[in-house]
Formats: sequence, C-alpha cells, structure tokens
Amino acid sequence: MRAMQDTLSSPSRATGERASHEEQDPAVTGRPVISASGLFTPSESISNEELVASFNTYVDRFNSANAAAIEAGEVDALTHSSVEFIEKASGITARHVMSKAPILDPEIMAPRLEDRPNDEPSIMAEIGVIAARQALERAGRDAKDVDAVLCAASNMQRAYPAMAIEIQHALGIEGFGFDMNVACSSATFGIQTAADYVRAGHARSVLVVSPEITSGHLNWRDRDSHFIFGDVATAVLIEDAAIAPNAHWEILGTRLKTVFSNNIRNNFGFLNRAHPESAGDPDKLFIQEGRKVFKEVVPMVAEMIVEEAHRLDLDPAGLRRLWLHQANAGMNRLIAQRVLGHEANDDESPTVLDTYGNTSSAGSIIAFHLHSEDLVSGDTGLICSFGAGYSAGTVFVRKGG
Ligand code: COA
Repeated sequence: MRAMQDTLSSPSRATGERASHEEQDPAVTGRPVISASGLFTPSESISNEELVASFNTYVDRFNSANAAAIEAGEVDALTHSSVEFIEKASGITARHVMSKAPILDPEIMAPRLEDRPNDEPSIMAEIGVIAARQALERAGRDAKDVDAVLCAASNMQRAYPAMAIEIQHALGIEGFGFDMNVACSSATFGIQTAADYVRAGHARSVLVVSPEITSGHLNWRDRDSHFIFGDVATAVLIEDAAIAPNAHWEILGTRLKTVFSNNIRNNFGFLNRAHPESAGDPDKLFIQEGRKVFKEVVPMVAEMIVEEAHRLDLDPAGLRRLWLHQANAGMNRLIAQRVLGHEANDDESPTVLDTYGNTSSAGSIIAFHLHSEDLVSGDTGLICSFGAGYSAGTVFVRKGG
C-alpha cells in the first residue's frame, strides 16, 4: 500500500477540481466517501418472450421424449412458463447476458464461455476492469493512487489467484486485493470493508468491484427461477474524504447482518465434481424457496434499515432515495413502504429490475449508478442489499459538494 506521508499543498478543494496525487492532503480524515461508481452492461439481452419461447420448447421436447413414462406415472410432465407470470411475480422484463445464444438453445440452456489460456484476462476480471476504469475516470483518479481492490461477487470463476488480484494487476495498482463472497450482499459488505480500511487509516482509496456473471449459476431449466438473473459488472470507489473529488457521497454509516438460512442455496463447489453442463445437476445450481425468502427477508431488512437510520439520527421517512437490492419489485415496494411510511414512487425507489433482472450484489449499485446524479448536496439516501445467507447490508450516504 502506498505510504501515507505525501506532502500537503492544497488545504481545501471547494472549487470542485481534484487535487493531483502530489498535491493531496496527507491528513487522512478517516471519513470514507463514495467518490464514483462504474457500470459494465453486456451488449446482449434476453427478453421474457425469447426466454419463455426457449423454455417452452424445452418443456415440449422433454414431455414428448418422455411421453410413455409420463403416461405411466413414472415421470412428472413439465409445465410451460409464462411471460405474464414472470412480469407480475418479479417485475423483470429482460436481462443482459454474456452468452445469449446457448442460453436460448433448448438443447443447451446454459452460457458457453470459452476457456481462456492463463495468459489472457479471465472474463470476470475483464468486465470488472471495464466497470472499475469507468469509476476511476469519473472520480478523476489515477489507478496508481488506489491502495486496494476488493472483488465482491456471488460466484467466482476460480479458486485462485483471486480475481481481485488479477483486476489489480490489469489496472496497474500497487497494494493488495482479495475476493469476498457474501452472495447478493457482496457489494455492500465490500463497501463496509473498504470504508473500514479508510476509517482505520489502512487505505485512502479502495475499489470494490462486482463482476456478476450470474447466468453461470442459474438453472435455466427451472420454471420457478429461470427468469431471475442477469449479468453485469459494477465498481465503487471508496476514498478518504481528504482526497475525494468534490462531487462525492459521504458514507454516514454502514451496517451488516447475516442470519443462516437454506432458503437460497448453491451447492456448487471445489469439493464436488458437479458442473453446470447442459444436463446440469440442479443441486449444484441456484435454488430457492422464493416465497419464504420474500416473507422472511422483507421484515428483516425493513427493521434493519429503520434501526440503523435511528442510530445515525436520521429520519427514515426523510431519505431522499432508496437504492434497494434488485431481486423482486414486490419486495422493494414493501420494504420502501415500511421505511418511508408511504408507497414509494420510482423517483424515491428506482428500479433497474425491468431491464437488468436480478444481478445479485450489483443490483443496488446499478440503481445508485444510474439514478443518483440528480440529487443535490445534502440529500441523504440508502444503498441496501439482501440475499442468500441470509445476508443484508446498508450504506447510508449524503451527497457532498
Ligand atoms: N411461469 C408460470 N407460472 C409459474 C412460473 C413460471 N415461470 N413459476 C412458478 N409459477 C406458478 C407456480 O407453479 C405457482 O402456481 P400454483 O399457485 O398454481 O401452485 C404460482 O406460479 C406461484 O408460484 P410462487 O413460486 O409462489 O411465485 P411467487 O409469486 O412467490 O414468485 C418469485 C416467485 C421467485 C418471483 C418470488 O417468490 C421472489 O422473487 N421471491 C424473492 C426471491 C429473492 O429475493 N431471492 C433472492 C435471490 S438472490
């Protein structure tokens, strides 16, 4: 990590232009802020209509290939999916993916990502770097002035070396990096970890990168969940207020919570040999009890937000905007209502679910990235995630500048 004893020459930056590395204030404040965010969106997208057509073809082929066994009661016939159900139950109308054609091929129904040699960037690092570069550019930050990289995501493509270290290397960052996985809450847990480094004076500039290629762990043959996920990468730059650009978000407080539950689970791992091939062992892919998740997580998260707001002396009803985890439109409606005390409109609780689907830990960061520029200095907001574990994370922010 870069030494902290750079010389001081610019005591304040009220004008909004950023200090160069040499000019930076060495007096770390220990106050973490979000300096900028970045987003990579895959060019390919699957509409509900395309998804359901492929799924229903698979169902028809399965039922006809197993007609005798179904007739004899030995095999259960599969049932069609429906666009209307998906939109009503989840709020999702499309999702971006890294590998569209094989997912829609009823004989494959899984992404096909070419194996890359070790001397080429791996795909998670590649998309993470694109998001990270955008965050750095928006902050006016030179990569060489970043101290650490956290790759916070639900599904790492390999055990080691850490994706974070590959991203760090690609960006030319000195210091350190490591991977962390808290499923859908990985990004907010990463933000708190980065903020704690800043609070402790261990780092002044930390990238939290969340490349989420969720299509690899989704069971595209499972009617209950085949519509849920999409691929994306986000990045958030957490910095000490002393070196942050004028247009930043002060981090007022962060709070994390985990409560064990089997209701969202993925048993894929390095101690078993199952793989999400075309025949895909469903036990080694994403499974969930969606109804239970809905019922149990909504009150847990709403209470956590309200409690933390009060601890920070904030009126939850006064939060200008909620950037909630993007898993289900109904869940977000209920959580926002409990927090704000009234039904939230799109301006108060924006959604990206419609076009991105559930992008695991990246969802609330996409919402923040796309829907935060219009807020004015002094406005408070909340980035909040929830998901498997169960895990939940809150990051209360106030627009600075
Ligand atoms: N097409 C048509 N009908 C479907 C369907 C599909 N693809 N999938 C399920 N259904 C049917 C079911 O068979 C059931 O029919 P029945 O009432 O006749 O038995 C009915 O729709 C309701 O199913 P259910 O699973 O209870 O739906 P739901 O309203 O709970 O919605 C989810 C499902 C997954 C969208 C919703 O539970 C959810 O989003 N939960 C939260 C999940 C979450 O946040 N997970 C975190 C992941 S990181």
